[in-house]
Order: sequence, then structure tokens, then C-alpha cells
Amino acid sequence: TNRTFTMIKPDATGANNVGAITKMIEEAGFRIIAMKKTALSKELAGKFYAIHKERPFYNDLCAYMSSGAIVPMILEKDNAVEDFRKLIGATDPAKAAPGTIRNLFAKSIEANAIHGSDSDENAAIEGAFFFSQFEQF
Ligand code: GTP
Ligand code: MG
Repeated sequence: TNRTFTMIKPDATGANNVGAITKMIEEAGFRIIAMKKTALSKELAGKFYAIHKERPFYNDLCAYMSSGAIVPMILEKDNAVEDFRKLIGATDPAKAAPGTIRNLFAKSIEANAIHGSDSDENAAIEGAFFFSQFEQF
């Protein structure tokens, strides 16, 4: 579809980079359909990242994702999921291409500034995790 889901992570909200990151997202041609500032409990972070339950870093990831404010958003653009993954760059900032959001703002492979859905199906599931139909315009 033409939608994806993203979330600015606690390292980036803590570093006051919400505006700079949102500006890059809009300048790359994405329209913001839904957006808010909120936070996850460790339990809710665990639900959001349930697909990673068996990974060795799951517990650390849930602790990190509940350590500060997050800014979830639903975004619209042609080819949204794939184009957004290109805009944010590789998971590990050391491997993220120059000019990508993670290259510019991420601190580590865990505190990597931003999330991007990896499929249309997950984009819909993740968007519905945070936003009702009445919050999408
Ligand atoms: P997301 O867009 O957040 O889903 O990142 P991704 O798709 O690039 O990576 P993946 O889904 O594989 O991992 C989810 C998140 O777990 C990453 O964004 C990191 O925050 C964290 N993570 C991934 N790999 C590692 C790791 O090796 N160690 C630690 N501590 N965290 C990791
Ligand atoms: Mg992922």
C-alpha cells in the first residue's frame, strides 16, 4: 500500500531531534497522517516488539523502548514501506548510508533513533497499535 508506520525512539526524543527528523521525513515526500508524543510501558514495548521475543536483545530492547518519550506516526507516500526504510538506513548506524536518519541521529544499534515498518502488513498492524481510525487524516 501507500502507508507505513514509524516511531521516533527515546534516544532521539531525548536529544531534542523530533523536529529535525520530522523535517527530513516531510522533505522526503511523506505526508503525516497521524502523529503524537507518548511513552510505552515495558509491557507494551514487549507487545509491540513481540516478533523479536526469541532474540537475545529482546529484554534490553523493551527496557530501552520504555526509557523515554516516543513519537509514533503513520505516513503516506507511494511505495511508502520500502522508501521509508531507505530514508532511515541500516539498523546499525555504523552501517547506515550517509545522509540517512540513522546515520545522522542514531547513537547505537539499539538506540537507533527511529523505527520503520518492514512490510505493508506490519505497517497496518503497528499503526493500529497506536492510532484509532478517528486519529488518521
Ligand atoms: P526497527 O525499524 O526498529 O524494527 O529496526 P530494524 O527493522 O532495522 O531492526 P530489527 O527489526 O531487526 O530490530 C528491532 C530493533 O531492535 C532495532 O531497531 C534495534 O533498536 C534493536 N536491535 C536490533 N539488533 C540489535 C542488537 O544486535 N542488539 C541490540 N541491543 N539491539 C538490537
Ligand atoms: Mg524491524
